[in-house]
Amino acid sequence: MNRDLIAVTALWRNMPTTSQKVFVGASDRVPEGTRLVVDVADTTIGIFRVEGKLYAYLNRCAHQGGPVCQGKIVPRVTEVIDERGESHGFAFDESNLHIVCPWHGFEYDIKTGMHPGRPSAQLIRVTVEEASDGIYVTV
Ligand code: FES
Repeated sequence: MNRDLIAVTALWRNMPTTSQKVFVGASDRVPEGTRLVVDVADTTIGIFRVEGKLYAYLNRCAHQGGPVCQGKIVPRVTEVIDERGESHGFAFDESNLHIVCPWHGFEYDIKTGMHPGRPSAQLIRVTVEEASDGIYVTV
């Protein structure tokens, strides 16, 4: 494990050992393709909505702990390669949204929390639920 990931793992160890379910707001606070960043129980959490489903992560990048959930949301960029192996530029995959950390540009798939090219780098998932009265996270 590299030094950056060790630092984030140490942060994770400082998480409270007891958990509580906390109301964070009405469902319309997280429209499709957007995020809500909230302070909950001495930590900050980013809640995202992709294809109608909610995903939540601690606002700590796996690289050096930056405020990843506050970065840009962008579609995954893929290279278009034909059957001869020739590149035809790049395309955006709108069905696969990524969050880009504002500090050094580490990118994570919002659905999995994983860096697409570095599987050891992943965000710390937070349990999020949507009820009839709104959104809850468990921290
Ligand atoms: S802290 Fe370096 S990319 Fe997020």
